[in-house]
Parts: sequence; structure tokens; C-alpha cells
Amino acid sequence: MTVLGIETSCDETCAAVIEKGRLCSNIIASQDVHIGYGGVVPELASRMHMEHITTVVQKAFERSRCTPSQLGAIGVTYGPGLIGSLLVGLNFAKGLSLQLGVPLLGINHLDGHLFSNNLEPANGPQPPFITLIISGGHTILIHVRDWGQYELLGETQDDAAGEAFDKVARILGLPYPGGPQIENLAKLGRADAIKFPVAKLKDAPLDFSFSGLKTAVLYHVQKEHRDKGELPQQSKADIAAAFQYALITAIVETIARAYQQHPVTAVAIAGGVACNKSIRAAMTELGKALEFSLFYPKPVYCTDNAAMIARAAYFYMTADSRRSRVAPPTGLAITPDPGLKLPSIL
Ligand code: KG4
Ligand code: ZN
Repeated sequence: MTVLGIETSCDETCAAVIEKGRLCSNIIASQDVHIGYGGVVPELASRMHMEHITTVVQKAFERSRCTPSQLGAIGVTYGPGLIGSLLVGLNFAKGLSLQLGVPLLGINHLDGHLFSNNLEPANGPQPPFITLIISGGHTILIHVRDWGQYELLGETQDDAAGEAFDKVARILGLPYPGGPQIENLAKLGRADAIKFPVAKLKDAPLDFSFSGLKTAVLYHVQKEHRDKGELPQQSKADIAAAFQYALITAIVETIARAYQQHPVTAVAIAGGVACNKSIRAAMTELGKALEFSLFYPKPVYCTDNAAMIARAAYFYMTADSRRSRVAPPTGLAITPDPGLKLPSIL
């Protein structure tokens, strides 16, 4: 079974080929046009997808040494994401599926992130395990009872973790995407220089809230400005380190609470923010204390990519998927769904 994956839900144009469960190519065209805007500009994103999609898919075939005639299925992200961006990938995939006479599966982007820990090596965490998806658009805590059987444990009630990184970066005058910038700056700062709030939601102990933290950073920066004028680099580094520490504390404490409810042997993190080395280190420590193994993907599979979409589609095309309670939509009837949720069995 050879599967082509296509992913265009946000600002990365991606295609990947998986053959017999082995990843053969993974092409990503990132869009630099958004850097000067402090965030993704939806109209620019869909235009750039249109410019790149054909070349990206061609390259995915070339690199994999597979030909379109070998394809057994195409998997394409149909949500959640930006409507214009989703449409480009979905319509391209529909055209290719029609032309080649190959089945088309609509893959939930979040389902893709869940499979991202099973790309390299392919034998990553096996259910049951807990996954935290932390990206620019999502912060979702899931108990993976089995592949295709997902129990939603918690999610953010306001900003996503990556969004908080990006907003704090902007407050400190750093470019988009802010996560890697904050991580680098934090290395020069002292995490205990400032005590920022760590939200704990009494009624929803497995949910997250990062907007209070972001606002606390904003007020702190405004006060420092009033008192001292332009912030010295050391102050900015201290703010970055203290912010990152508070965010990581919220994550670690919430995972510890989730583990009490579901004492699994494996916990995985996924999504762009899972690139963060301090988060990986803090979660590894928690894993040692609670005796679970921590899984995180290589950075290239943390941020958006089509390898994870192809991997999910491969699963739904094989007999393994009989256990799944998720049935992906198929064929020309698939419509993009910007607000698509991960189907929870509870
Ligand atoms: O998964 P992703 O590529 O796209 C979404 O689906 O949102 O995640 C992008 C997010 C951005 O908010 C970016 O700032 C964040 O991931 N990010 C990081 C790091 N690298 C990327 N956040 C913290 N530390 C990093 N090293
Ligand atoms: Zn994503």
C-alpha cells in the first residue's frame, strides 16, 4: 500500500509518500511572507499554497521513487485550519484522485498530529497512551485508548500554547513565529526573576488557560517601560525565561493530573511547541518521577507536515483500522471544515 499525504491547513504546503508503512519522502514548503506581519495572513497563505502545491507533490513523488500509478490512496487534511488554505490542498487532492482513479480520504489534522510520534521510528507509543498536542492553533490533551478511539481529556479555554509564545514574542518585539525566539532568549534569562501566574482551573482541572499569563507579561512589560524606558536585553531575557517557566509548569502539572486518572506507561507530545527543549526536559523529568516513557517527534514532524497525514491515511486504509471508531470521509463529497474537532468517544 502506497499512500500520498497532502497537508495545507495553515502556512506550510506539504506532501509526503508512505510505502508499506515506511516514510519515503516528506516535502515542506514554508511561507516566509508572513514574517513581517506578526502572524499568518490567510489570504497570502492560500495564494502561496496555490503557487507551491504542484511542485511540492511532484517532489514528494521524485524523492520517494514511487510513481503516481503505484498509489493505493491519497490522504488530505480537510480541517481544522484556514478555509482558503484547506481548499487548495483538498481540491488538488480531489483532482489527482479522479485522474488516477485512487481512493481519497479526508484526514483530521489533529488525527495526523496523533500519528506524528509513529513516523520515525514507526514503532512509537502504542495505545493506550496520553498525548498533548501543543501548537499555534491547538492545546488538546487526549487519552488515546486505541488508534481511532480518542477520549478528549482537556483543552485550552482561550489561547493555544503556541499562540501564547507568539503573542509574548510580539510584546517583546521579536518576530513571528515567536516560540523558537522565546526559547533562545530564555536561555540567557533567569526563570525565577519574575513570578508569572500559572492558571489552574478548578472546575476543569485538565483544561488550560494561557491568556492570563500573556496579559501578566504585557502588564509587566508596560510597567517596566514606564519605570525605566526601553527594556534592557537582560530584562527581556528574564521575562522570556519566567514566561516559559510558568507555561511549562502549567503543562507539567496538568499532565501529572491526567496521569492520576489514566496511569499509562507512555505519554507523547506533538505539535510545533513540542520542539521546545525545555518542555521536553521538564516532561522527561516528570516521566522519570511517574514512570512513564515520554515520546516526542523529531522537530520536522512536530510542526505541520504531510508525513503525519499520510501515516494516518495509511492506518485507515489497513485492516488495523477495524478497531477505529473514526471513519474518515471519502471521495469528492469531502468538504473543508475549518472548525473540525477530533471525534471524542465520550
Ligand atoms: O504545529 P505548528 O507548526 O502549526 C500549527 O498547527 O499551529 O505550530 C506552530 C507553533 C507556533 O506558535 C510556534 O511559535 C510554535 O509552534 N513553536 C514553538 C517552538 N517552535 C515552534 N514554541 C515553543 N518553542 C519552540 N521551540
Ligand atoms: Zn498543526
